[in-house]
Order: sequence, then C-alpha cells, then structure tokens
Amino acid sequence: MEFKAGVFTVAMLAIVVLSTPAAPQKPKSPPAPRSPVVLAPAPAPAPAAPHHVDLADLLSVAGPFHTFLDYLQKTGVIETFQSQANDTKRGGITVFVPKDSAFAALKQTTFANLTQDQLRSLLLCHALPKYYSLAEFDRLSALGPVATLAGSQYTLNLTYDMGTVRVKSMWSDPKISSSVYSTRPVAVYEVGKVLLPMQIFKSDPPLAPAPAPAPDAKASDVAPSPASGKSSASAKAKEKAGEKSSSCRAGVVAHYLAIAVSGGLVLLW
Ligand SMILES: *[C@@H]1O[C@H](CO)[C@@H](O)[C@H](O)[C@H]1NC(C)=O
Ligand SMILES: *[C@@H]1O[C@H](CO)[C@@H](O)[C@H](O)[C@H]1NC(C)=O
Ligand SMILES: *[C@@H]1O[C@H](CO)[C@@H](O)[C@H](O)[C@H]1NC(C)=O
Repeated sequence: MEFKAGVFTVAMLAIVVLSTPAAPQKPKSPPAPRSPVVLAPAPAPAPAAPHHVDLADLLSVAGPFHTFLDYLQKTGVIETFQSQANDTKRGGITVFVPKDSAFAALKQTTFANLTQDQLRSLLLCHALPKYYSLAEFDRLSALGPVATLAGSQYTLNLTYDMGTVRVKSMWSDPKISSSVYSTRPVAVYEVGKVLLPMQIFKSDPPLAPAPAPAPDAKASDVAPSPASGKSSASAKAKEKAGEKSSSCRAGVVAHYLAIAVSGGLVLLW
C-alpha cells in the first residue's frame, strides 16, 4: 500500500513536471503502427537508345585537346576509337585524353623518331576497350595492369586514392583532372600528361626546355613551342629539373617571401 502510494506520488510528480500545462493524462499508448509508405514507382527510364557520341566533335570542342585529336586523325586511330565507341556490345571505350599543354611539355622531337606503328600504339594506349565510370576505378585499381586498346602487352596501372585516380604508364602517372564525358558506353577523361609506355620509350623522354623567363637567358636552343602550352611546359620542366639557376633564385625569393609573410602574420597575431 505504502509502496503503491509512493509510486503514485512519483508518478504524479512526473506528470506535473513533464506536462504542467496539460491535464494529467494516461500514459501514451504505443504509437500506432505507421501505415506503410508506398513510394510512387519511379518513372521507368526511357529505353536507352545509345546516344551517339562523335569523338572527334567532342574532342574539338572540349579541352583544348587539339594536339591529341590531330594525332588521332593523322594516324586514323580516331576510326578505331569511334567504332569502339559506336559498339556498345563490345563494351564501349574509356579514353584518357592529354591536354595540349601535356604535349607542349614534352620536347618537340619526342615523337619524331617513332614509326607510324609506334605512334598508333602510343595513341591506342590512351584508351581502354570498355566504358568505366570514375567510381569503377576504385575496383579497377585492385586488378593490377589493365590492357589498353593497343593490345594486351600495353597496360596501364590505375590507382585510386580518396577519389583521385592516377593513370600509370612507365614514364608518367597523370591523374584524371576532369571528366569530359561519361555516359555508357563512352568515357573521356582529361589527364595532364601524355602516357609514355616502356614498349615505346626505352628511357624517360626529355621535357621541353623551360622557356627563358628573362630576355637575357639563352633562348636560341629553345624550340619554338605553341604559346598556349608555354606556361605549363615551363612549370613542368621546373618541377622536374628544379635546379635551373633563374627559377631556383625565383624559388628562393618566393620562399623567403613566404617566410616573411608568415612571420608577419605571426607577429600581427
Ligand atoms: C559510328 O556511328 C555513326 C552513327 O551511327 C556512323 O555515322 C559512323 O560511321 C560510325 N563510325 C564508325 C567508325 O563505326
Ligand atoms: C632520333 O634519331 C636520330 C638519328 O638516329 C637521333 O640522333 C636522335 O637523337 C633521335 N631523337 C630522339 C628524340 O630519339
Ligand atoms: C603495374 O603494376 C605491376 C604490378 O601489379 C607492376 O609490375 C608494373 O611495373 C606496374 N607498371 C607501372 C607502369 O607502374
């Protein structure tokens, strides 16, 4: 009896505290089972008529990818790419397309001694005979070398790290910098470097010399290169060589400026 009264008091107290404005009420009954929510069926996707992608058109407006497109057209490899892109039954195509600046960064003579077959293989090496979405590279990266359109001996290693996909050939491993087009069966991804397989290049092909930053530096042995590619060619060459006197000095100055600025910030702070 006393126990019950105690429980009652505590219960009353609880009711008063918890629901002061409301009249005392019965403990809530368990919520009624929710009526099942019926999702309206998603509209059925329109039967996918494979959208025809003209790769030459696509590459001519995106990018700039003119150098790659020129090579594809001169060698006829564009036909191989296009028939692969046309044929969904064969799995489509994934193309890694280097920007014009990637070609400009290489010494102009890099492709001069290649036979027509080697040049074709080099271009074919920039494509996989299957469509891959960016998300699929996570899985692909675990599979080891992936055969390219150039044949099973020409492989690329794909690595996937926190959303960054790198395409590794022997002498370069550019990352995919953007997705130009990706709808089954055609994927075109932009890369910042030309892929350089070891079957074609026995050694690391030289970079274009960095364009002279000042008129006094010797410019005579710098092969004329398209103005569009100059800055990135220079950046890449600097990144690689890094020890050129002028760029080194500039780097040192920038370094000290950075220290001075951060020091100033610290003092201000
Ligand atoms: C690809 O398909 C288009 C449209 O159907 C056609 O005009 C073109 O000739 C085809 N190209 C190749 C290389 O198969
Ligand atoms: C191309 O071949 C010539 C003659 O064989 C050679 O002197 C030159 O160094 C080669 N160039 C390249 C980029 O391999
Ligand atoms: C690709 O990976 C294989 C091992 O899976 C390795 O033997 C090969 O050297 C790699 N190739 C490149 C270009 O990184």
